[in-house]
Amino acid sequence: MEITLALLKPHVLRNSYALQQIKTLIGNNFTILESKEVCITKELSERFYAEHKGKFFYHRLSTFMRSGPCYAFILESESCIAKWRHLMGPTKVFKAVYSEPNCIRALYGLSDTRNACHGSDSESSALREIAILFPEFKIRKPDKHI
Ligand code: CMP
Repeated sequence: MEITLALLKPHVLRNSYALQQIKTLIGNNFTILESKEVCITKELSERFYAEHKGKFFYHRLSTFMRSGPCYAFILESESCIAKWRHLMGPTKVFKAVYSEPNCIRALYGLSDTRNACHGSDSESSALREIAILFPEFKIRKPDKHI
């Protein structure tokens, strides 16, 4: 079994239809170990998106992620990281729309920054991101979870 961090971005929380559709999709595909609404502070954003610091979109991304509450999940399933990333689709919404029109980002993404959702890109990223957004979550030994 594998776990991952999934994050729904602020504009999705302002769209109750989108939020419900995505929650249903998640519930049908994963075991939800934890979930909560989370307000991304400047400090959380800096830690969460540290690898993007200095990139041209960093300030825009950080401002957007603090524009309203997000919804975070710890998900578990076989091949959880790849499975959630497949459901999200490509980072860039225009690519998502043309290549995978039914993926979450094609349906609910508005721009490359406001691309509806986030998912960890590796096991180590999942552990790092879960520790930032769910500091109280106890990660079981790698052979049990990841
Ligand atoms: P996310 O999965 O949250 O991880 C990093 C985020 O940076 C990404 O989704 C987008 O929101 C944002 N991002 C990545 N590339 C670009 C880009 N070229 N222009 C604007 N935002 C981007």
